Amino acid sequence: MGAKTEKLLSTLKLQPVVPVLIVEDAATAVPLARALVAGGLKAIEITMRTDAALEAVRRVAAEVEGAVVGAGTILNPAHFEAAVEAGSQFIVSPGTTRELIHAARSSDIPLLPGAATASEVMQLREEGYQVLKFFPAEQAGGAAYLRALSSPLAGTLFCPTGGISLKNAMDYLSLPNVVCVGGSWVAPKEMVAAGDWAGITRLASEAAALRG
Ligand code: 3PG
Repeated sequence: MGAKTEKLLSTLKLQPVVPVLIVEDAATAVPLARALVAGGLKAIEITMRTDAALEAVRRVAAEVEGAVVGAGTILNPAHFEAAVEAGSQFIVSPGTTRELIHAARSSDIPLLPGAATASEVMQLREEGYQVLKFFPAEQAGGAAYLRALSSPLAGTLFCPTGGISLKNAMDYLSLPNVVCVGGSWVAPKEMVAAGDWAGITRLASEAAALRG
């Protein structure tokens, strides 16, 4: 296993659930990340879907002790470079393109690339990827689908994301080819808007306790 894959795996193994955040206001990023870290969720993915996202990554990287901040929804090399420049320690993409693989190859920061079919997984294996995001997990076939990939595609580990919550997270976490799950449920929009950081720490603690 290469050094970048090891780095990625050690980040993903910090906790069973990686929070997937859509940050509308960069001012909420630091208290939100602190609330998640306090609940035991240290690896945090901030998606590049808002104007505030890069600034949010910058602030969390600089100010939140114990957090390992990554950037999600990376769709192209320009996103990749901007996210790394802002301080992202890992990069997540919903799918994969040749350009993205190329950008990732020349970076020290690991990429968790998205895949949803056996062929996509096989192509990423040819590129040397052993740890993938399975997206969109529930919509693509859920835990039963991922279980079906575990024997023919043994050796590939997944972080499923999309439609996962406290209710179904264990369906995935109990699979041999799942290292963690991703989800937005630990940081509901309304709680962030209300500044309910204690409530978010509670949700994070529940998530962190999954898999005992
Ligand atoms: C996403 O990219 O939006 C993530 O997969 C999170 O999905 P969720 O909101 O269904 O948890």
